[in-house]
Amino acid sequence: MSVFGAQDYRDHEQVAFVSEPESGLKAIIAIHNTRRGPALGGCRFWKYPNEDAAIADALRLSRGMTYKSALARLPLGGGKCVVLGSAAEVKTEALLRALGRALERLGGHYVTAEDIGVKPSDLRIVREETAHVAGLPETSGDPSPVTALGVFYGLRAAVRHRLGLDSLEGLTVAVQGLGAVGRSLADQIAAAGGKLIVADIREDAVQKAVQELGAEAVHVDAIYDTLAEVFAPCALGAILNDETIPRLQSSVIAGSANNQLAEGRHGIVLRQQKMLYAPDYAINAGGIINIAHEDRAAGTYDKAGALEVVGRIDDTLAEIFTRADATDTPTSVIADAMAEERLYED
Ligand SMILES: NC(=O)c1ccc[n+]([C@@H]2O[C@H](COP(=O)([O-])OP(=O)(O)OC[C@H]3O[C@@H](n4cnc5c(N)ncnc54)[C@H](O)[C@@H]3O)[C@@H](O)[C@H]2O)c1
Repeated sequence: MSVFGAQDYRDHEQVAFVSEPESGLKAIIAIHNTRRGPALGGCRFWKYPNEDAAIADALRLSRGMTYKSALARLPLGGGKCVVLGSAAEVKTEALLRALGRALERLGGHYVTAEDIGVKPSDLRIVREETAHVAGLPETSGDPSPVTALGVFYGLRAAVRHRLGLDSLEGLTVAVQGLGAVGRSLADQIAAAGGKLIVADIREDAVQKAVQELGAEAVHVDAIYDTLAEVFAPCALGAILNDETIPRLQSSVIAGSANNQLAEGRHGIVLRQQKMLYAPDYAINAGGIINIAHEDRAAGTYDKAGALEVVGRIDDTLAEIFTRADATDTPTSVIADAMAEERLYED
């Protein structure tokens, strides 16, 4: 295949193809940009249909990390590691050690973290071979509560902008997904006086929210049709698409899920439908902000510093919304433009 001409290859600084026959390791480490700092991004295990798909995923995800960290003004660049093969089939201690040695050879230009198929116990093994590992339980730990706090701030900023309200009191928020982030967000919405409509494929999580937060439960597919001021997608990617957008009854879309727009053009459709979309990587940056406040050399974590920067998600979103209105441009396009500006600011 052509690499430099590949659709997702846009100014990547370095792409490493790593293999180690003894452990069976085959990985691609894409470093998109290190202008603001070391390229940080999770490591995922995935059984790709072919190598081209793995390369495309690594290139696309690493670029996304550059944008997310730059928009949050973090001293980090963007990178991603994909290991070819499902975790259940290929992940062994020998393979994780080989991966750690490969990261060590990159000299800290790429720093890895959790993603699909990687657990804290796996990262601890990688950490024995290299210091370039972030997000271990003993340092910044589970980022989900901090991500949820950032989403809450962003959701409030969107409500303020679209509905002119400073409070969530009496507003209804439809939350899709009550996992680590969605449930924590639901707790904050309830505490702020908001009403909840919830859906999850896990019936136990739904029942807990009904009992503990007074939420109304709906079927997983019915969440797109519920009457609510805010729709908060906290489960799946690509849920803003041709099928779902016409069904949505909310004027604000603000949730944690990654890659919410099925295609870039859906950002335009949302604007045409007068739905205010809080761009996913702007509103869900709490997790990466949390990791950025680790001192990997000292093994410490500055929680107060992380929370202060998470508070700025409100300002970032307010600026995105204002600029989108001033230029009649989708918020997703403005977020990309602002990330590019912040990438090159001093
Ligand atoms: N955890 C973080 O810090 C973080 C940071 C940035 C982005 N995100 C993104 O936010 C989203 C949620 O992350 P999380 O850590 O809470 O994950 P999680 O796995 O803890 O929760 C996801 C929840 O969604 C539910 N779900 C799955 N399919 C569903 C469906 N069809 N309808 C309704 N619910 C469904 C699952 O049962 C689960 O309860 C993901 O898209 C993730 O990539 C998370």
